[in-house]
Amino acid sequence: MRKRIVAGNWKMNMTPSEAKKLVEELKPLINGNGDTEVVYCVPAIDIPIVSELVSGTGVSVGAENLYFEDKGAYTGEISAPMLVDAGVKYVIIGHSERREYFEESNIIINKKVKKALEHGLIPIICCGESLDQREQGITMDFIRQQIKVALLDISADAVKNLVIAYEPIWAIGTGKTATSDQAQEVCGAIRDLIKELYDEDTADAVRIQYGGSVNGGNAKELFSKPDIDGGLVGGASLKAEFADIVNA
Ligand code: PGA
Repeated sequence: MRKRIVAGNWKMNMTPSEAKKLVEELKPLINGNGDTEVVYCVPAIDIPIVSELVSGTGVSVGAENLYFEDKGAYTGEISAPMLVDAGVKYVIIGHSERREYFEESNIIINKKVKKALEHGLIPIICCGESLDQREQGITMDFIRQQIKVALLDISADAVKNLVIAYEPIWAIGTGKTATSDQAQEVCGAIRDLIKELYDEDTADAVRIQYGGSVNGGNAKELFSKPDIDGGLVGGASLKAEFADIVNA
């Protein structure tokens, strides 16, 4: 059985001192050793303090991005070995905000996935359509392309351990959640695609999250769907409400 996974994506929020306060506030509310895996994906500068504070609680630390080289003259970038050394276990790759504001292509995302795996980091690979694409009826064509390229030359064994986050762009930060049926439809189709690209065991093992305005009120319904194994949570991960989502 797939272990459920709820990850907070803090985005560009929380100074190190604010991060400390939030993690301390969440500590008594969240059991990181329960049935659901819990991850805080935090800005790079918050990684040391968050790693220290979650140590021993069962909660894992994730990064929000990485670069696809190990080291060198890439001013401003952060490498996989740096993340590993700082205690990071997961890394979000290909979030729609990175695709839109930093022009990350599917090919770049594939390079980042490879680099993360090479160093033992678990990628959380994001995909999702815009409102235009949904209205044109090309949601699955678009997502299939995103996933196929992101997973180019990635082995079945690696895919079994990674996480795919389905995040419709129109639902991110808008308060407009996909209905649980809409989310299930796409997450189910993603699992079918993994079966088509690999095999049934791999499709059964890969964990698929839904993301986009998940909150304490809608999480239970979303997570009750057979192909939704948890959530990637933005806004609601910055408050105590995140514990309600984990507990859902
Ligand atoms: P949101 O963000 O929960 O604020 O909609 C989700 C995400 O971008 O991962």
